[in-house]
Amino acid sequence: MPARIFVGIQWGDEGKGKVADMYAPNAHICVRFNGGNNAGHTVYDETGQSIALHLIPVGIRHGAIGIIGPGVVVHFKSLLEEMKYLLQKGVSCAKLMISPEAHLVMPWHIALDWAREKERSDDSVTPIGTTLRGIGPCFEDKAGRIYAFRVEEMRNKPAFLKKLEKVYREKLKRIFIEKYGPEAIANPKILPPFEKLRAYFSTHIERILPHIREDALKTIRHAIEAGKQVDFEGAQGTLLDPDHGTYPFTTSGSTIAKAALDLVSISRRDVKIIGVAKAYITRVGSGPFPTEILTPLGDKLRELGHEYGTTTGRPRRCGWFDAKLARYASYVNGGFNEIVLTKIDILGCIAEPIRIAHDYQNGSFVMSRIKEMVPQYEEFEPWGSIDPDIRFRNELPDSARCYIARIETLTRTPITSVSIGVSRKAVII
Ligand code: GDP
Ligand code: IMO
Ligand code: MG
Repeated sequence: MPARIFVGIQWGDEGKGKVADMYAPNAHICVRFNGGNNAGHTVYDETGQSIALHLIPVGIRHGAIGIIGPGVVVHFKSLLEEMKYLLQKGVSCAKLMISPEAHLVMPWHIALDWAREKERSDDSVTPIGTTLRGIGPCFEDKAGRIYAFRVEEMRNKPAFLKKLEKVYREKLKRIFIEKYGPEAIANPKILPPFEKLRAYFSTHIERILPHIREDALKTIRHAIEAGKQVDFEGAQGTLLDPDHGTYPFTTSGSTIAKAALDLVSISRRDVKIIGVAKAYITRVGSGPFPTEILTPLGDKLRELGHEYGTTTGRPRRCGWFDAKLARYASYVNGGFNEIVLTKIDILGCIAEPIRIAHDYQNGSFVMSRIKEMVPQYEEFEPWGSIDPDIRFRNELPDSARCYIARIETLTRTPITSVSIGVSRKAVII
């Protein structure tokens, strides 16, 4: 199959980066098709050093062409910093293409994200717990079509800088002075001074120009037509999708496979959709989480699995594998061809019985009623530590094998790979 889409089944951080990295060596192109630098994908290279990616598809480190698609929202400074960081790690971004239609996350988006979260909290409304990367406000402007900036606009520097000033002044007046009061302006956390912003763009804009490529989408299409392998690396997870997830506790852009299919109008039949699931579940930020472990066991799992955000460092909430939600995720994505299960090594390290929510007591599930759902569990014997060098499923402890087989039955999807460590090689295929 010339195209593969990797999507998160849960609330993000399932290990999509590691899985995309595992498959990348035979990919001709790797595409990031959604989200922004709210994503954090950690991989480990051959020397054991960790590499955290936020905007750039991981396949670039295996020599594939890396493409940032039109659905991604790009924070310019973060992108430049990520390119520099990758170079320091020995990864060249010479083959990085950015779709000119991608939108730019501007400093006022970040300031607004911050101000809105604070406002919710001041009004005793649960904050969303965003990554404070300006994602929501950027998508608002994209939909609004008035104040938005697309990457392509950077090609005309004088016009870009002129619009930058106009929009900056407008945002300052309408939002920050009228809504949040003049004192907000004095706080550099809210919005940097215009001159500083202008100077940054003015100095650095040229660095990105060679990467802005109007043939980005055509390159993907032609590669697929020629039967070359194209991988689509998803960000976030299905349950963070604004239409299908736990809205409003979601992100703002689509997180499902359709977002990749729509890019180049590929037929579902010509694509393999690979769901990436953690053997347990984590979630950062607020929102319903039926299988959340609220006892000290949840904290133990967090420590064992180093469950702290790659992007924000926040502790991740931990819970049991939820097969009902996994089935829902498969349905929403048009049916997973296969599932890759990660972190089975971590789950085995707890001494208590391991649980799977196979169903909800409330009967049929609708996302709008997720808060009321009461999971029904079944239990498995803890399986203990897993030898990172094993490569066959029959070398796994019995209980781990039963656990995996049960997830296959409950999700009605084959688990083709089981990840048992951070390294690319630590996997049972
Ligand atoms: P992503 O956002 O879906 O790419 O996931 P993150 O990178 O944010 O979080 C997954 C974390 O788990 C990363 O630190 C990975 O290195 C790590 N990881 C992935 N698969 C495994 C696995 O099978 N075992 C262990 N121990 N760690 C894993
Ligand atoms: P990866 O690609 C986990 C969550 C935030 C918050 C909600 C909205 O690494 O899996 P946003 O900043 O997008 O407006 O925040 O979405 N979130 C993620 N959680 N992994 C991610 O990406 C996430 N991207 C956004 O924590 O709850
Ligand atoms: Mg992550």
